[in-house]
Amino acid sequence: MYSGDIASVLITEQDIQDKTAELAKLVAADYPEGSEDDLILVGVLKGAVMFMTDLARALPVPSQLEFMAVSSYGSATTSSGVVRILKDLDRDITGRHVLIVEDIVDSGLTLSWLMRNLATRNPASLAVCSLLRKPEAVKVDVPVSYVGFDIPNEFVVGYGLDYGERYRDLPYIATLAPHVYEA
Ligand code: PRP
Ligand code: MN
Ligand code: MG
Repeated sequence: MYSGDIASVLITEQDIQDKTAELAKLVAADYPEGSEDDLILVGVLKGAVMFMTDLARALPVPSQLEFMAVSSYGSATTSSGVVRILKDLDRDITGRHVLIVEDIVDSGLTLSWLMRNLATRNPASLAVCSLLRKPEAVKVDVPVSYVGFDIPNEFVVGYGLDYGERYRDLPYIATLAPHVYEA
């Protein structure tokens, strides 16, 4: 599949599985199953879909799945920080514990906008779990409570991450061969 397009595998399917199990334990310790309402996971479409579903299945506590779709104005590879909601939550999150689930925090602009937006809805708590984080995001000071991997500033695809909507279906995280960008 995609033969010749993959330059190198950065994070294997096994690495992702192991890390997801690790993150699930950390999350579950902070949101124990009890008298309170179930934890709400807010997945950011489309990139977070694979991680969100794997994380939910790895969590040893109940969670409920919600999705948002946002679009940031800007070029294909950088975001501007101006975000538009394409699909909002279906439900009220007032008084609920909410965990935003992302595939990657790159510039951090999408996430910082989303945090501000969801905070206005008065959840009981609001935190973020991202599988990947890039160096820029550390500078922007977005509070990501749970991070899977800090990766170098390279363009990566797979496991939800796309280049022109392709490669999301790969089970691992990889870099692309230069000829893909030239096409
Ligand atoms: C990607 C990624 C994050 C966001 C990170 O989504 O999935 O949501 O960019 O970028 P930032 O930290 O620089 O804001 P994208 O907008 O490409 O949409 P997609 O998830 O549908 O691919
Ligand atoms: Mn995304
Ligand atoms: Mg994308």
